[in-house]
Amino acid sequence: MTSKVPQSSAGLQKQAVSGVKNIIAVGSGKGGVGKSTVTVNLAVALAKTGANVGLMDADVYGPNVPMMLGVTGRPQAVNNRIQPLSNHGVHVMSMGFLTTDDTPLIWRGPMLHSVITQFVRQVDWGDLDYLLVDLPPGTGDVQLTLTQTVPLMGAVVVSTPQDVALQDARKAILMFRQVRVEILGIVENMSYFVCPKCNARAEIFSHGGGEETARRYEVPFLGEVPLDISVRVGGDVGKPVVLSEPDSPVARAFGTIAGNVARRISTANLTNLNTMIIQ
Ligand SMILES: Nc1ncnc2c1ncn2[C@@H]1O[C@H](COP(=O)(O)OP(=O)(O)OP(=O)(O)O)[C@@H](O)[C@H]1O
Ligand SMILES: [Mg+2]
Repeated sequence: MTSKVPQSSAGLQKQAVSGVKNIIAVGSGKGGVGKSTVTVNLAVALAKTGANVGLMDADVYGPNVPMMLGVTGRPQAVNNRIQPLSNHGVHVMSMGFLTTDDTPLIWRGPMLHSVITQFVRQVDWGDLDYLLVDLPPGTGDVQLTLTQTVPLMGAVVVSTPQDVALQDARKAILMFRQVRVEILGIVENMSYFVCPKCNARAEIFSHGGGEETARRYEVPFLGEVPLDISVRVGGDVGKPVVLSEPDSPVARAFGTIAGNVARRISTANLTNLNTMIIQ
């Protein structure tokens, strides 16, 4: 098979990140489908189960994680290691902590490579069960750097159900496959909307395309998240909905997805262990 990826990750030495058990990328082909929202809510949902969780905001150009997790400040260096900031039980590193205003960054590939490598290697992540990585949209430099230099446990692909988003999600699935990163599953975000006034259900972006794509590409379907005002508000005020309205249907949806991700990871780790023992 000819690969459009400049260099396959296969055969490259990917050094483990000391103390970090599972690094999980959250991506999608398309922008604005809710990657950051899903990443932040998954991180908090996993932290609520007692796991040690980190979140690396790899969206260098548009870092939204600090606002969505309500964390501000400037990370300090101790013994040449950058100390991540924390909130809601999640350790966070983001370009948003290092830029002082809203001026857009204009960086080229090698600079992106350098900052992503530093975020992985120079940050004092400590002992983590999960390090979630919020990817920028697309299948570009950041995705390649990460998949080629970091031993990813797997990737979660987020999509909304409409065809144009699914078209890009399929590209993300194929990109992860080309660089041999396991797809932990697909999340269908903005899956449907229930009117808070009349309880009528509307499938604004269509419905079911995430599950259908999962079937077609033989990857797990992790669950669907409704379009809900509380999700957007949670992101804007820095208190994810899994904390602000933990018993709401949408928070429960995130909880189910977090459980599915954790289960997939345990199964994959067990399979890897068995393979090592057999070898
Ligand atoms: N299920 C949802 N219900 C309501 N609003 C949502 C939902 N998911 C995401 N949003 C809102 O949609 C907007 C885009 O979400 P988000 O920033 O997470 O997308 P993204 O895929 O990370 O975007 P980008 O590609 O720019 O990184 C945000 O304002 C977010 O609050
Ligand atoms: Mg984002």
